[in-house]
Amino acid sequence: MQGVQGEELEVLLSAKDIASRVESLGKRITLDYQNKPLILIGILKGSFIFLADLIRAIDLPVAVDFMALSSYGSSTKSSGVVRIIKDLDHSLEGHHVLVVEDIVDTGLTLNYIYGHVKSRGALSVKICSLLDKPSRRQVAVPLHYKGFEIPDEFVVGYGLDVGERYRNLPDVCKLVRANG
Ligand code: XMP
Ligand code: MG
Repeated sequence: MQGVQGEELEVLLSAKDIASRVESLGKRITLDYQNKPLILIGILKGSFIFLADLIRAIDLPVAVDFMALSSYGSSTKSSGVVRIIKDLDHSLEGHHVLVVEDIVDTGLTLNYIYGHVKSRGALSVKICSLLDKPSRRQVAVPLHYKGFEIPDEFVVGYGLDVGERYRNLPDVCKLVRANG
């Protein structure tokens, strides 16, 4: 895909690399949650493609719910402000929860989500993120399952966007802005 004017895309993680990593994460999760009622909570919107692939790599009965939070708007800098736009539909009682996120950057968003979900009576809460940018962390969050560690670059594709663009890219790409 061509970037819009002033933006160039460089492949960081190919669709093939992502597919094989997601497959092995699914296998690990399948082993870890044998005989445990599992619910995946996708954090909208960025996780929607990762979640769709991951859930098909998990060979267990599994429920799904979603939460949507605001953090970035169309800017590429973290505001540190987290607000719930869409809360969970279901009670989590009696379930083991796996929160599925696209990327952990400062950690502020997941730190908030982790506390929120834990207060809903789940048997356990773990976190699975496709991407991790450890160099930007401001708050420590437990990342139980991780796809890839990436350098401090703004990335798009495979669900991730800038101003709602590029979510449909099959690869994760570095976004290079021609005008800084
Ligand atoms: P924090 O800083 O709270 O941010 O860990 C997590 C959320 O910020 C967004 N984010 C990105 N989105 N490319 C994106 O498209 C990036 O490189 C990026 N870094 C952070 C994302 O929504 C994530 O859930
Ligand atoms: Mg997100």
